[in-house]
Amino acid sequence: MVAIKWDESLSVGVDLIDEQHKMLIERINDMSAALNRHHAAPKIIKTLDFLIEYTDFHFGTEEKHMVKNHYPAFEAHKKAHDDLKVTLGHLEEDFMEEGATEDLAGSINVFLVNWLINHIHAIDTEFGKFLREQGIKMRE
Ligand code: FEO
Repeated sequence: MVAIKWDESLSVGVDLIDEQHKMLIERINDMSAALNRHHAAPKIIKTLDFLIEYTDFHFGTEEKHMVKNHYPAFEAHKKAHDDLKVTLGHLEEDFMEEGATEDLAGSINVFLVNWLINHIHAIDTEFGKFLREQGIKMRE
């Protein structure tokens, strides 16, 4: 697959979130490249672990600021994060059991990329708007 690239259309108007999304995209691209190039299992697992670890970190950052600032849509946003974490866990289990199948590569290439882009456009953008309207700065 063609690697996805961050561009201004993905900006939520909050620098810290944009920077973390860029890193997330980089990790999805790394994972995807490892699968597409048929790298050895340990390398693929490493890229998947990096992706899961960074996803947890990024979601944690957003959720911390939602709670701190009494964001009204916190529950729905957190549920979307939790659903993806469960899916990533399943992808890892599938990989452990079946290796880098075409299905798994397809899930990574299509599902994760679509999920992230849709989530940024539909959900994170709203959070970014809320932060800007409230004059809240996110520094960490
Ligand atoms: Fe940027 Fe809600 O994840």
